[in-house]
Amino acid sequence: MVGGRRAAPRCGWGWGGGWGCCPLLCLLLCLLLCCGAASKPEVSMPAVLEVEIGSTARLECSFSVPENSSYTSIEWFFVNAVGLGGQPGAAPEVLHQARPQINRGHSRRVRLCLITTSGLQVDDTEYKERLSVGEDKALSISRVTRQDDARTFICQVGAGSQGVGENYTELYTYKIPTVPEITPNSAGIPAHSNDMPEIAKCTSENSFPSPNITWYKNGEQLLPEEDKTKVLTTVVRQSNGLYTVVSTLFTKVTREDRSSVFHCTVHYWLQGQMRTVDSPRVNITVFYPTQRVELRVVSGSGMVKEGDDVKLVCDADGNPAPVFSFFKREPEDNWQDVSSLADTNNGVLMLHEVNKSSSGLYRCQTLDLDDMTLHEGDAELVVNYIEGVHVKVEPSSPLHEGDTVRLSCNAHSPVALDYQWRDAKGKKMVEGKQLLLSNLTFENSGNFSCRVQARSVPGLEQSKQVAVAVQGKPRIVDISSPLYVRQDEVVNLTCKAIAFPRPSIHWSINGTTHEYMENQRVASNLTVRVSHDLLRAGAMCRVSNALGISEKHIQLLDQKPSESKGIIIVAIIVCILVVAVLGSIIYFLHKKGKISCGRSGKQDITKPEARKDKNVVEVKSDKLSEEAGLLQGANGEKRSAADQSEKYIDLRN
Ligand SMILES: *[C@@H]1O[C@H](CO)[C@@H](O)[C@H](O)[C@H]1NC(C)=O
Ligand SMILES: *[C@@H]1O[C@H](CO)[C@@H](O)[C@H](O)[C@H]1NC(C)=O
Ligand SMILES: *[C@@H]1O[C@H](CO)[C@@H](O)[C@H](O)[C@H]1NC(C)=O
Ligand SMILES: *[C@@H]1O[C@H](CO)[C@@H](O)[C@H](O)[C@H]1NC(C)=O
Ligand SMILES: *[C@@H]1O[C@H](CO)[C@@H](O)[C@H](O)[C@H]1NC(C)=O
Ligand SMILES: *[C@@H]1O[C@H](CO)[C@@H](O)[C@H](O)[C@H]1NC(C)=O
Ligand SMILES: *[C@@H]1O[C@H](CO)[C@@H](O)[C@H](O)[C@H]1NC(C)=O
Repeated sequence: MVGGRRAAPRCGWGWGGGWGCCPLLCLLLCLLLCCGAASKPEVSMPAVLEVEIGSTARLECSFSVPENSSYTSIEWFFVNAVGLGGQPGAAPEVLHQARPQINRGHSRRVRLCLITTSGLQVDDTEYKERLSVGEDKALSISRVTRQDDARTFICQVGAGSQGVGENYTELYTYKIPTVPEITPNSAGIPAHSNDMPEIAKCTSENSFPSPNITWYKNGEQLLPEEDKTKVLTTVVRQSNGLYTVVSTLFTKVTREDRSSVFHCTVHYWLQGQMRTVDSPRVNITVFYPTQRVELRVVSGSGMVKEGDDVKLVCDADGNPAPVFSFFKREPEDNWQDVSSLADTNNGVLMLHEVNKSSSGLYRCQTLDLDDMTLHEGDAELVVNYIEGVHVKVEPSSPLHEGDTVRLSCNAHSPVALDYQWRDAKGKKMVEGKQLLLSNLTFENSGNFSCRVQARSVPGLEQSKQVAVAVQGKPRIVDISSPLYVRQDEVVNLTCKAIAFPRPSIHWSINGTTHEYMENQRVASNLTVRVSHDLLRAGAMCRVSNALGISEKHIQLLDQKPSESKGIIIVAIIVCILVVAVLGSIIYFLHKKGKISCGRSGKQDITKPEARKDKNVVEVKSDKLSEEAGLLQGANGEKRSAADQSEKYIDLRN
């Protein structure tokens, strides 16, 4: 074997002190051997194969046998590095640069298998179960382990009399580290502490070879620095040969680091290249004392008005938040503790439905438990209000119909006010403080309201209502007279009056009365059976109050007997029938062509038709008015109806 090795192009290699002999002799020998070796099989193998632990390693061996002959045997070996402590995997980047030497030191070859033309013969080694040979004679080793498989494998090709050639591959195993796990210090870290506090731990598990861990704050690498930053690393080699690396970062933090993010990165080599895996980014809790306290007034709208809910928010810049207390300045610079109204944990003072007296200077005080320092913040609360809305009525003496009255509205407020007057229905009448009501009547008196609004404070308004009462003796405004009735009929007599104070209504006759209010009027209905006396004398409505009496007479008129009505109706029906019959006759004749059908003729017929409709409507409306009691004299009515029917006939002739 060793002889074959010497014959390889790397001649002189492994000869030890052989270089010390005569250079000429050596050259000669070398040439001789090299030329002789030209006929030996050439074996080509990759210097290094990197395989992930647990996967299958495929070691390739390609060769060329000279002069068309074939190989006679292929043998696979591994080198058992007895007593060689060094693990080649420890510094792979170095190993990539120069091929290591085999069979140095106390190592020995162990044959794995023999491939001849007659087949494969597997030797009884530790690889017996995990080994296979492909068609291309490549050796596959499955379930590669970290401990046993990182070694040198040799492929030796024999070509009978041509001799043997061989080459070897270093098998390196690796395990890619998992994504590192980062655990920030959950207890919180005081800013500006004297010692270097622990920030976070970074753990990279089960990798080979052991990786490196670096630290970053806001994306920038943190390098160890005296009195500022240090990193402690522990590497644990597990029984399966893999490494777990734990790196702990210690660094001083400032208040600004409350928003810093930290992460760690694992660096490892793979196939000659440096790779990295980043951990997730984490925040840390930084404790720092309060330096500034600010008290703010927070309300729904911009300016605070009476009735609002107001929040006084105390902002302290310390972490954790300090203990808050609230005070309000009372007269004589007396500060009253109002903390009982506050949510002191959050530093919020809630004031519900504030009023004028809620205004004033408020103070928030904090006590930082870390350094026992007191801080204060003040805020002025201004509650806008309107008070004392007052209406002056001039003259103040009782008012009578025809009088003029002036209403003046006034109110107090720290802000500018707008005034306007509205009537009882809420309709705007005038803008301004004053409302002049001239020529007062019972009707236009009533309730008026002055609405006061603060221009600059939306929603702040008040109003005041005043009643303008015009006093006077009653005025009868509506009476059901004259009334057409029939004897023994039950009728309603109505009398409506207006006055202030409210008047009472009396009737001159007995009956059932019903009194009610309608708008500002007092109305009375008297239900009564029409007697002969009543028909003759009529009824009297008398309205009175403290200021006087008014009365009016209701005239009752007898309606004509009902036959006259019947006669009219019969007459109308007859007329309509006559018209209808005549119309159909004319239509029939016209169809038969017995009447000349000129344009003018046609118009003559259609015109009265239209007029007829009109007349019918007139008759109907007459009938309606008759029912309302306006119809007079059946004779006249009858005559007019007769006139109408005569007219129709005239038109047709
Ligand atoms: C082994 O194989 C490599 C890659 O093919 C080749 O460069 C090297 O010369 C070979 N060594 C021998 C001794 O044949
Ligand atoms: C780990 O760090 C050491 C020292 O900085 C360095 O020599 C080595 O190459 C690093 N290894 C990896 C895998 O980054
Ligand atoms: C870190 O904290 C800041 C502020 O508290 C927050 O905005 C940010 O989302 C946090 N980032 C992470 C990764 O938790
Ligand atoms: C006052 O009102 C009455 C009744 O409405 C009217 O007749 C009169 O002209 C009015 N007078 C004035 C000065 O407006
Ligand atoms: C005026 O307002 C008062 C109180 O709201 C009410 O009692 C009165 O009926 C009102 N007067 C009129 C004329 O609407
Ligand atoms: C009063 O009488 C008038 C006329 O008959 C009638 O229209 C009205 O409904 C009556 N009112 C009441 C409240 O009875
Ligand atoms: C009204 O009725 C009363 C008793 O119910 C009676 O004394 C009086 O005479 C009657 N008046 C008239 C005008 O009928």
